[in-house]
Amino acid sequence: MRLRNEVIFFISLIISFGVSNYSSYPRCHVLENNSYSGYRGVNLGNFLEAPSEGEWSNGIIIQKKHFYRIASAGFNLVRIPIRWNAHAMATSPYTINDSFFDRVDWVINQGFTQNLSIIINIHHYNELMDHPESHKDRLLVLWQQISQHYQNYSNNLIFEILNEPYGNLTNTLWNQYLQEAIDIIRIANPNRTLIVGPTDWNNVWALNELILPQNDSNIVVTFHFYSPFEFTHQGAEWVSGSNAWLGKNWNGSQSEKDAINYEFDIAINWAKANNKRLFLGEFGVYQYAFTNSRIRWTTYVRTKAESHPEMWGWTYWEFCAGFGIMDSSLTYWNKGLLGSLLPDSPLIIITNTDTPSTTTSSLPATDTTTGSENSTVSYSMSTSQSNISSVFTYLEILPILLLISPITVFYTKRRIRK
Ligand code: BGC
Repeated sequence: MRLRNEVIFFISLIISFGVSNYSSYPRCHVLENNSYSGYRGVNLGNFLEAPSEGEWSNGIIIQKKHFYRIASAGFNLVRIPIRWNAHAMATSPYTINDSFFDRVDWVINQGFTQNLSIIINIHHYNELMDHPESHKDRLLVLWQQISQHYQNYSNNLIFEILNEPYGNLTNTLWNQYLQEAIDIIRIANPNRTLIVGPTDWNNVWALNELILPQNDSNIVVTFHFYSPFEFTHQGAEWVSGSNAWLGKNWNGSQSEKDAINYEFDIAINWAKANNKRLFLGEFGVYQYAFTNSRIRWTTYVRTKAESHPEMWGWTYWEFCAGFGIMDSSLTYWNKGLLGSLLPDSPLIIITNTDTPSTTTSSLPATDTTTGSENSTVSYSMSTSQSNISSVFTYLEILPILLLISPITVFYTKRRIRK
């Protein structure tokens, strides 16, 4: 009998421990003193945008748990870059492989299962940038197929017409192509939100050249933000000369902030003048910058984006590769970066991100940088959170606790009877 009481007490303790931690996490996306209610999301980069999935991620492909992790952190949007052009016939009728459609369907549905909105785009269509005129028809037929295929999907699926037009895809050509692509998409998707951005890699400086259909109010305009480029892309293998930028910091000085404000305000003023909503579809700092600088920059840019009512949403570049907020095996969060994006995330509590302090952060996990810098950022993780390794969060552990409890009761009862 005594043993039984002890076991029941122990089980109740475990359950109430889990439940109290579960319910104490804030569930709301909007910060106190912050009226931002737009989308907060992340790019699932380096997967379906690679020539074949897994090629850029050591064989890892998108799994259920990617969406589970993203949703449990508190994001509500995922942008999925897709290299459709690598999975379609090179010549007319440019048919997209059925098996690739199946794969993308599965990925989108996993996101929906976690109540996430999903953006799909056409990404890395480099041949189009080099030879726009000979690839125009293929671009349009790709959209014809994609838009017909997903016409019955909920409006939580959003189409972005093309990632980062550049090169020979000039403003004149791009303005024609985007209009024709929108006309095709609208045949079967009259109410779906569409995203379109300017040339020059979706640069704010090219916004003035962008010509959009006048009569379509459900178009959101995207821009990408990586300034100062020598800081955000230091050590990036695909940017020649970027090793010389290693060690560059972003300290949050007034002049550094002013430079960001200046470019950002170009987008905001354009949106006001053109009565458009804006989407910051990519921003991020590559892994070789010092962690505290990455956090300061990301916090500043994200906060800046959220301070304007013209902003429809943002998606950080990216989830679990070189710019990532998690390691590729999804074991560890970089909680400093996560907190710079979602300060009210259920997975982290951060204080004092803007006030200089002498405390050095002791962030768990994915800080692969070497060397040191003077920290001006301090973190306090909730004690209960820091006691447990980053592998599991309480939200993830709760179902396990609930499962273990009845099993323990069953076996205890059997032992007592014996
Ligand atoms: C590209 C990625 C690149 C990122 C940052 C994206 O638009 O598709 O390959 O890593 O920008 O440069």
